[in-house]
Amino acid sequence: MSLIEEINKRRTFAIISHPDAGKTTLTEKLLLYGGAIHLAGSVKARKTTKHAVSDWMEIEKQRGISVTSSVLQFDYEGHHINILDTPGHQDFSEDTYRTLMAADSAVMLIDVAKGVEAQTKKLFRVCKERGIPIFTFVNKIDHFGRNPFDLMDEIENLLGIHAYPMNWPIGLNGSYQGIYDRETATIELFEKDTSHGQHKLASTKGSADDPVFRELLEEDVHQSLIDDISLLDEAGDTFDFEKVKNGQLTPMFFGSAMTNFGVKPFLEKFLKMAPQPQPRKTLETIIDPASEEFTSFVFKIQANMNPQHHDRIVFMRICSGKFEKGMTVNHRQSGKTIRLMQPQQFLATERTIIDDAYPGDIIGVFDNGTMGVGDTLYTGKKKVTFADFPVFPPELFARIRAKDTMKRKQFLKGMTQLAQEGAVQIFENLGSMESYIVGAVGELQFEVLEYRLKHEYGVDLEMNRLPFSIARWIQDNGHDYKEMKNIDSAMIVKDNKQRLVLLISNEWQTNWIIERNPGFTFCTTPDNLKREAEE
Ligand code: G4P
Repeated sequence: MSLIEEINKRRTFAIISHPDAGKTTLTEKLLLYGGAIHLAGSVKARKTTKHAVSDWMEIEKQRGISVTSSVLQFDYEGHHINILDTPGHQDFSEDTYRTLMAADSAVMLIDVAKGVEAQTKKLFRVCKERGIPIFTFVNKIDHFGRNPFDLMDEIENLLGIHAYPMNWPIGLNGSYQGIYDRETATIELFEKDTSHGQHKLASTKGSADDPVFRELLEEDVHQSLIDDISLLDEAGDTFDFEKVKNGQLTPMFFGSAMTNFGVKPFLEKFLKMAPQPQPRKTLETIIDPASEEFTSFVFKIQANMNPQHHDRIVFMRICSGKFEKGMTVNHRQSGKTIRLMQPQQFLATERTIIDDAYPGDIIGVFDNGTMGVGDTLYTGKKKVTFADFPVFPPELFARIRAKDTMKRKQFLKGMTQLAQEGAVQIFENLGSMESYIVGAVGELQFEVLEYRLKHEYGVDLEMNRLPFSIARWIQDNGHDYKEMKNIDSAMIVKDNKQRLVLLISNEWQTNWIIERNPGFTFCTTPDNLKREAEE
């Protein structure tokens, strides 16, 4: 098969959702279709519900693929599918955001009863900024749910994207009986069952005009469907594939992952519309996936997966060219050449060593500490640099220091390495050489930091949470930051590139400080700072 054919058959996407919307269940059903697993429940079995600090590594072990592999891969009807894993809320961290950088499209999973929830909103924002196509699957329609028009409004109002329903739930007052497919004008009704997803729901399918459905559905349900559909056709958005590709319109599907209703039609339509690996921007040029030269970027590092061996696996997304086992590549950041040994891919339940891989694929390779998150690897003479990963504004902060001051060296080493992995964001505490300020987007990042410094570097941490929830990068516009007014309740720190950052408790205080310091500019991320301010 040619490189272009390999690229065309690949679909690499992430499922974004709030915990409990049914991501594990949907993933499992997709894997079942691909034949990658044979038994419903095998993905779920690895899910743990409680995350105690002390058993973090145990969690890693038990969950196997769901935490450490980052990607699940299977084939379905000529497509090669890579599902990127974005862990649920207990695990919520910058890792989750960064994984989205490796996706070509996203599936936004929403619980029909709950609508758009907090976590979905956060993850959605990252996808929207990247301009990747977003597909919506409204799950659990076998259960009581909200009005579909309300959900469309909510998506538009909260997320700023229009939704185009590909199908429509049939029923009244939130009690649904099936779906209507708008493209084929067919109805599929499911039979209620009580097996809690043990069985695929039996269903009746046919043309919407078929009088059978008038009988099967009660008169008012049938009429309401007809009314809804004509309202959608007349007043709803038209289907514009260009808008879907640019992430301005989201095709919306209704279904039920648990009872496997509407999952297969979703998968098939999704595969038709979702993009194959696309050209990617670098600082130098735009890289076509079909280019002969291999390029990839690191989006995740998992160190000490096996604590006995201190191994470190670097996950990279291939952007162009063909990858071959043992190939030598240039590492842009260090200028070294590196041989990519023991490349691994991850089937549903096991890791395998692979011989080759193509754009869109994710591979994991062992690394001795050279590579960092966001780094570029490439072959050929021309330098390639994928742009820096965006910095995600941290919302949680803590001051940390080594309990034992004699362990300062190990503490520094540990912090440097964990910062390189992107485990937390580290800030310099202007008043002290002994302590650092760390920032995170999720609670688990702190737990992991504490656990890993102790177990991998032998350092016990003293950690004090700080009452801040907002970080603003400061552009001084030629003023001395010491002249800033009304910042007694805030704290000034420096990020790893020596840029000044103000930590603040709440929105109200932020506005207060901004008003009183008109000479300074306050940016939500360092990417927004003017270049000269960075240098
Ligand atoms: P997550 O990964 O997004 O956190 O969600 P997960 O798949 O674990 O699903 C969360 C709960 O929602 C599970 O119930 C699951 O069975 C249920 N669920 C998923 N899809 C559907 C659906 O289409 N319809 C209905 N009615 N429920 C669905 P649980 O009680 O927490 O777990 P379990 O006892 O089912 O294992």
